[in-house]
Amino acid sequence: MLRIGMLTSGGDCQALNAAMRGVVKGLFQARKDLEIYGFEEGYKGLIYSNFRMLKAEDFSGILTVGGTILGTSRQPFKLMRVPDENGLDKVEAMKHTYHKLSLDCLVILGGNGTHKTANLLREEGLNVVTLPKTIDNDLWGTDMTFGFHSAVEVATDTIDRIHTTATSHNRVFIIEIMGHKVGWVTLYAGIAGGADIILLPEIPYDMDVIAEAIDKRAKAGKKFTIIAVAEGAISKEDAKLSKKELKDKQAKKKYPSVAYEMAEKVQKRTQQEVRIAIPGHTQRGGSPCPFDRVLSTRLGAEAARAILDEDYGCMMSVKNDKIVRVPLSEVAGKLKYVDPKSEIVRQAKITGISFGDE
Ligand code: F6P
Repeated sequence: MLRIGMLTSGGDCQALNAAMRGVVKGLFQARKDLEIYGFEEGYKGLIYSNFRMLKAEDFSGILTVGGTILGTSRQPFKLMRVPDENGLDKVEAMKHTYHKLSLDCLVILGGNGTHKTANLLREEGLNVVTLPKTIDNDLWGTDMTFGFHSAVEVATDTIDRIHTTATSHNRVFIIEIMGHKVGWVTLYAGIAGGADIILLPEIPYDMDVIAEAIDKRAKAGKKFTIIAVAEGAISKEDAKLSKKELKDKQAKKKYPSVAYEMAEKVQKRTQQEVRIAIPGHTQRGGSPCPFDRVLSTRLGAEAARAILDEDYGCMMSVKNDKIVRVPLSEVAGKLKYVDPKSEIVRQAKITGISFGDE
């Protein structure tokens, strides 16, 4: 008997179900003596032994369904070694559940925090295979995560819709795009949506440069401007502050998010009307785009192969359009940032997009 535990952890995204389907279909093609234990709400299910037995049928018809059939939760890595409110040791509890059910392997789908815990479980002797999910595309060790392209589609659609109203009213629109500490979704959606200014955490901006770019457009007869700003974007001034100084400064300003701060700054510096649009969690919702359906199915299929090969302790990853296995020890704790000197940024600049830096 092959006993597999499965969980989805961290923020949800499109194609989580598609990826799990890929794993399970791949396993059932090779083995009939299979038990699948689906842990509910991420690591919480493993800690508190909340699971349900899943059959092949449970993975049918979910290729196109957003969210996760298992539910998910954020269990911060830094708290994993801290006992819960009843004094329970979470790591020991996870190991206990794993051994109690005589699992052969855990299949864990998640982003950065999830991978740190997955690596911890590997170090504790559990067999683990992981799949890289996140709209942020910030997982080190893979060219692409699933969820990313679907989020880019949603964010692009928002920019497209804003475009028509921005041109009709001659307004400056600030569209805030998700991505946590990185700017991948903003960069791709910004280019795809024809944004005039793209602001990323990796390229600190200068307000003078932004104001100049807007004025230049107005003088050229283009009275509207689209600014795609990543939720983690930062000014050159703030980028020089220590973490503590920045935290204190942000606590004083109390802007609900970066779009509001940017709107106030732009309003002060230009003569134009400014509005904001925040697609927020719509970027993580709904059906995965075809690219993510294909990517997650391929990653899932290779995860099934890794399990059948008993090759554990690795993340399925994309490298030059090949699916490869990367050791978890190499992935855990590292972020993949947009390189300000990368081709894509350089090419965007060639077409006249301002990144607010020069
Ligand atoms: O990691 C995915 C993500 O959507 C980030 O882009 C964003 O910063 C964060 O999750 C939002 O988290 P929550 O769903 O907890 O509000």
